[in-house]
Amino acid sequence: MSDKPDKLITDDGLRLDGRRADEIRPMKIEIGVLSRADGSCYLEWGRNKILVGVFGPREAHPRRSQRADSAVIRYRYNMASFSTEDRARPGHSRRSIEISKVSREAFEPVIMAELFPKTAIDIFVEVLQADAGTRTAAINAASIALADAGIPMKGLITSCAFGKVDGQIVLDLSKDEDNYGEADFPVAMTQDGEITLVQMDGHLTPEEIKKGMELAKKGCKEILEIQQEVLRKKFETPVEDTVEKA
Ligand code: CDP
Repeated sequence: MSDKPDKLITDDGLRLDGRRADEIRPMKIEIGVLSRADGSCYLEWGRNKILVGVFGPREAHPRRSQRADSAVIRYRYNMASFSTEDRARPGHSRRSIEISKVSREAFEPVIMAELFPKTAIDIFVEVLQADAGTRTAAINAASIALADAGIPMKGLITSCAFGKVDGQIVLDLSKDEDNYGEADFPVAMTQDGEITLVQMDGHLTPEEIKKGMELAKKGCKEILEIQQEVLRKKFETPVEDTVEKA
């Protein structure tokens, strides 16, 4: 871990990576990167690198895991051993189990699981490089991979954290801000702004949370535009093609 910098925010209001309080890190998304998955996505957000594969709806195994009235949604978050500064221990950890659970719950309100009884929809997340905010990055990627797999959803899920650094509320914490800041507050929401995930690490006053939620909404709106653009590019049928086929 790097030494604690004297200041995480300069007197000019700039953060260590040059961002202002309300700015997210640059994000790049590629869709359909895995040929064996039904849907997939590779996402870079700052220095985070995340790969997501979605499989299903497919018959759920073991059979006792099946639900007669809907699909079961399974979400597995995993950090590659080489993804962190110190080697991440392979396999499940309390942290990965918790992240998998809250991320699955973040998607349950939008996935139309009732259309596919007895099946499973599997979302596999591999964190290839971690640099703070991997659960939010993974949710943004999973949303695209689910859409790529053609899973019926009421809308996309978008995720972004805010936090408190040097006493200020800022959007999308970097690694140093996460390590040395006072609080980290990941949020996920639907396209309509309905909150589907909220977690808090650290202490914040109700006023700070209110201010942070406004920032998170702004961040999620920007991310939603990036997600929609990627999906539009993939699924939009060029006009010439339609004319030719008619
Ligand atoms: O990644 P996220 O912010 O969702 O979760 P976190 O538990 O707050 O972890 C923050 C960051 O700590 C991760 O993104 C990694 O960069 C780092 N980390 C690590 O180096 N080794 C771990 N076993 C877990 C996290």
